[in-house]
Order: sequence, then C-alpha cells, then structure tokens
Amino acid sequence: MDKETRENTLVLIKPDALKNSLTGYILSQLSEFHTGLHFAGTKIVSVIKVLAEEHYEEHRGKFFYPSLLDYIMGMLHYPDEPWKRRVIAFVYQGTNAIKKIRDIAGPTNPHDARVQKPGCIRALGTVVPVKDENGKPLGDRVDNLIHASANATDSEREIKLWFKPTDIPPFMRDYATEVCEEHYYLKGDSIRTAYEPGSVNFLAPGDLVWKSDLDSLHLHKQGLQAPCTINTIVAKYLVNKDLAG
Ligand code: GTP
Ligand code: MG
Repeated sequence: MDKETRENTLVLIKPDALKNSLTGYILSQLSEFHTGLHFAGTKIVSVIKVLAEEHYEEHRGKFFYPSLLDYIMGMLHYPDEPWKRRVIAFVYQGTNAIKKIRDIAGPTNPHDARVQKPGCIRALGTVVPVKDENGKPLGDRVDNLIHASANATDSEREIKLWFKPTDIPPFMRDYATEVCEEHYYLKGDSIRTAYEPGSVNFLAPGDLVWKSDLDSLHLHKQGLQAPCTINTIVAKYLVNKDLAG
C-alpha cells in the first residue's frame, strides 16, 4: 500500500483493559482479519506524568483531568502493584485506519457505548463516580479500555509523542525524520546541548528523530517559541528509563 492512501493511528490498551485481561480480545477485534490494518509499532509503556499530561493536553483544567492522569498512569487500577502500571501502545496502519478503529472502539462513555453500539469494545468499560477529598461528588470517571486517535492531526501528534522513529520499521514510517547532530540533555524543564550535573541525555549525534521535534529543539535552544513543547519532545525518550535508579 502506498504512503499517500494509508493512514496511521495510535491505539492505547489502557490499564483497565490490562487488569481485566482484555488485551487479547481487543487485539483480535483490531486484527488484520477484521480491519485489514497492520501493526507499524508497539511498545509496553510505564506512563510517566509528563507523557500523561501531554497526551491529555486538551483536557487540562477539566474536573476529570487529575483522575484521567491517574487512570492512564495505572494508579487507579494498580494502586498497590506499581510494577503492573503500564499501557500497551500500538501504531496501526492502513486504509481508513482512524475511522475503522474509532468505530470498533465505540463512543467515549461506556454507558453510551452499550446503548448506541452494543458489541463495541467500550461497551465493556465502566463509569466510576469521582469525589473530591471531602467526599463531594465531582462527576464521573470514564474507564473505557482503549484510546484511538480521533483524526489525522491528532494521530500524527500522538504517534510522535509515544514513539521514536526507530520504533517503527523504515518502510512503515510516514512522518519526516532527520539525523540529530548534537547532544541534547534535559535539566529540570529546559534543554542543554552540553552535560551538566543533574541533566539527563536524551539525544546524541547520529540518532534518528522526528524532523518536527528537531525543528522545535532548534528553536528551544535559542530560547524561542516552538510548535512542540519540550515535554512533548522528551517524554518518549524518558519512557521506561529508570531515572531513579
Ligand atoms: P480517547 O480515545 O481516550 O482519546 O477518547 P475519545 O477520543 O473518545 O474522548 P476524548 O479524547 O474526548 O477524551 C479522552 C478521555 O478523557 C476519554 O477516553 C475519557 O476517559 C475522558 N473523558 C472525556 N470526556 C469526558 C467527560 O466528559 N467526563 C469524564 N469523566 N471523562 C471524560
Ligand atoms: Mg480523544
């Protein structure tokens, strides 16, 4: 299939799906046999706060945002088993990949999913009341098992947020890449091009990076505004690094 007609979409199997052993069921629903789509990338991710915040950036400030972060970070389903806190991230690729997977996932709210689309994946989800620290009801939390990108702009942003170019085989990589020519380090919430005590290296000369990340890094380096925030760029490089160890 040529690059012009195929779409890419990000799918996350969320902690509630893992806890309920629904991974196999979901993958079977999304299989090539049912959808005609192919995996282009997959990884098991221990979701750090910066990744959760960037992924759900559009919901920042809403009442359910803090519980949404806790949810995707696995805190709610594995409060006492931190080693089980993870999601499985996939890039699916093919014709109409975004709509096909959104259709199989179903409506955001599992109550709506059961009424409007019995049999969709989210019909197996749950809705949980959220209360403040004094027990006052704030609304509902939506545990809906799966994330699927909503449109091509979101899928590009989300795939670049969760995956490095080298997580995807070259012949399935559809976004522009470039070779990094400098060292980049993160210190606090700013970047450096030389090591300083307390900084963490995330890129080195020769690394293949998303071109849009590198363009933004060049701007950040000069202290200028950039389309991608530093957190958006670094999150995928910090994932699964044991920074405390
Ligand atoms: P995703 O595939 O997870 O992005 O879901 P979506 O595209 O169907 O919905 P959206 O991007 O608007 O919301 C992202 C997530 O935030 C949802 O999966 C829900 O877990 C949560 N969420 C969205 N809207 C609401 C809401 O009105 N109330 C609550 N409690 N949670 C919501
Ligand atoms: Mg969404």
